[in-house]
Amino acid sequence: MSFNVAIDGPAGAGKSTVAKAVAAKRNFIYVDTGAMYRTMALYFLRKGVDKNDEAAVNKACMEVSISIAYENGAQQVFLNGENVSGLIRTEEVGNMASATSGYLFVREKLVELQKEMARKSDVVMDGRDIGTCVLPEADVKVYLTASSLVRARRRYRELTEKGITCDLKEIEQDILDRDHRDMHREHSPLVQAEDAVYLDSSDMTLDQVVDAIGRLIDQKI
Ligand code: C5P
Repeated sequence: MSFNVAIDGPAGAGKSTVAKAVAAKRNFIYVDTGAMYRTMALYFLRKGVDKNDEAAVNKACMEVSISIAYENGAQQVFLNGENVSGLIRTEEVGNMASATSGYLFVREKLVELQKEMARKSDVVMDGRDIGTCVLPEADVKVYLTASSLVRARRRYRELTEKGITCDLKEIEQDILDRDHRDMHREHSPLVQAEDAVYLDSSDMTLDQVVDAIGRLIDQKI
């Protein structure tokens, strides 16, 4: 039986950095489910699909095959055979993913792939619905969050380091809008699983968060 760690939480809470570090320490596979929704979104953008037209999104979704591979431990995501890992981190793709991840058809397709990966390997999987829907039997569940201002500051730093000019207030508003959409959608809304451990990383370092999750794993292994 594989060992599964589920990490859920809002945008910018540091889930992927934390999940990657935990996975590397334990020799588990890190599964970034947001990258799958982003990849789907990239296809919709390329096709010019209207994000509000559910029938058109569903139709386009049927044309998509997503697969995952690992290169030196880093997840690579393929859209109909093309490695698009370097193309899915833009705000445009993120906003399209946030809008289209609410559709059941899109979710069902990706959840199937996620479940299969967790069946086959020990994984640390991050997303919005991992502990509640994808892996309800996960051995360890964490709900990782931070205040919207802390999350916006982290994002602001990331963008300015890349030389991108941005506005902190706008970033925080974008984060709040995305949280609202994720938390209030009909299908698999972002919510803390009853048996998930709540971790607020606002005043914690990366190492402190990783150690806290490591202790939860130790208790179950
Ligand atoms: O985590 P990331 O920002 O890459 O995710 C992009 C979008 O995909 C999120 O805003 C969310 O709407 C959606 N998502 C989801 N369920 C997941 C992972 C991501 O709905 N398990």
